[in-house]
Amino acid sequence: MTQVMPPKPPARPDRVSLWRYVKLFRQDILSAQPAKLYRAWMAEFRTPFFRSFLVNQPDLVKRVLKERPDDFPKSDRIAEGLKPLLGNSVFLTNGEAWKRQRRIIDPAFEGGRLKDTFPAMRAAAEAAVARLEGQQGLVEIEEETSHAAADVIFRTLFSIPIEHEVAGQVFTRFRDYQRSQPLLNLAAFVPLPRWMPRFFRRGTRQNASEIRALIAQLTSERMAAIEAGTAPDDLATKIMTTRDPETGSTFDADEMVDQVAIFFLAGHETSASALAWALYLMALYPEWQEKVAAEAAALEDGSFAAVSKLKISRDVFRETLRLYPPVPMMVREAACPERFRNRDVPKGAQMVLSPWHLHRHERLWENPDGFDPARWQTENGKQCQRDAYIPFSAGARVCTGAGFAMVEGPLILSMILRRLRIEPVAGKAPVPVAHLTVRSQNGIWLQLSPR
Ligand code: HEM
Repeated sequence: MTQVMPPKPPARPDRVSLWRYVKLFRQDILSAQPAKLYRAWMAEFRTPFFRSFLVNQPDLVKRVLKERPDDFPKSDRIAEGLKPLLGNSVFLTNGEAWKRQRRIIDPAFEGGRLKDTFPAMRAAAEAAVARLEGQQGLVEIEEETSHAAADVIFRTLFSIPIEHEVAGQVFTRFRDYQRSQPLLNLAAFVPLPRWMPRFFRRGTRQNASEIRALIAQLTSERMAAIEAGTAPDDLATKIMTTRDPETGSTFDADEMVDQVAIFFLAGHETSASALAWALYLMALYPEWQEKVAAEAAALEDGSFAAVSKLKISRDVFRETLRLYPPVPMMVREAACPERFRNRDVPKGAQMVLSPWHLHRHERLWENPDGFDPARWQTENGKQCQRDAYIPFSAGARVCTGAGFAMVEGPLILSMILRRLRIEPVAGKAPVPVAHLTVRSQNGIWLQLSPR
């Protein structure tokens, strides 16, 4: 029997001109890279405008993310495409401003709080299953998982479902924003000289300010409810009432709009991408689908404790995040001159960390391109999980929502498979491309039927 492999984008030839590279880049950063990056420890991109280094060696990744994060701050340039929408959100800031924001936000996402967040998450999962049961047949699943993940965010943050008028508007306008704002990847990885003006497509700024106005409506209503003592005990209330332990200050209304915008963006795009790929992989590997479906019986009692029994589902989700890390690459900037692998890294160089390449590194992983959720129980899998697995980044700037996402993903996956059987659709194998997150070029199509 020939083994079916999960889809992998084609690599470009080893040598291409700068302009061809930029052109490929604009189309998709994954297929713009040469295959040798799956074997390299480090690579340098030198052009007339900038120097970038792709760091693919575990100890160097650790140095940048975990050991010396202050010397490798977030690059300003990644902020350019997102600033109109995200303002000074925790995703974009550096230094003291960022540290203060994390001190206020982190307590809301602590492990212990997940139990309180769980009922809202589960309600969103139930609504997603009901929508899919209502459709059946041929379904484009990315659309569905986006809907579900956005619902999770609104229910956990503001105790409102996506059907709420303001929530629904944020969701649809946000999609338009992304479509009109293609600069993000390019600006981040191929930094343009600072003097070059930045153009946003017509409507992008307008759209961003409209989204922010909608969010401001939610935060100001919430502020009033907190003051009146009638606010629900959800993530928004928790964040808006948490004092910075060092200064005693709380977020003001504007700051909270920035943070809600990033929770919405970082929290729904990523989970939606991972869940869509996980469902596709389940269609491709029915033996694993059956295992997840059988295990999902544990969810019958509806308790938070039952989630810890979803071991196979969690391994499947973890394997999905390895093969299709929703954030395929991250960029940092060297704040001072460095020496990496006997190469001079000048101050200001862009340091690209690539979960996409690290997770499929041919010299680190056994069967790097294969789908094997059982690997997490092997020596190689455990070693690589420590050294070469960063779907949520690592160190001080690790994703705030990592614990949240590792409950949400396996939970929704299990709840869907408990009720529905899914199969791939002939002639519609998805091709991974990186937009804001790793998505499929033409959607992910599945055939759904009741179990
Ligand atoms: C499968 C789902 C998710 C994945 C793969 C993911 C991945 C990531 C990654 C890689 C980063 C670091 C980006 C960088 O340094 O450039 C990040 C940051 C962040 N994520 Fe997530 N994320 C997920 C879900 C969530 C959720 C559910 C939330 C919130 C509800 C969230 C909130 C954030 C925030 C606020 C940051 C910025 C942290 C900082 O810079 O200090 N994420 N995420």
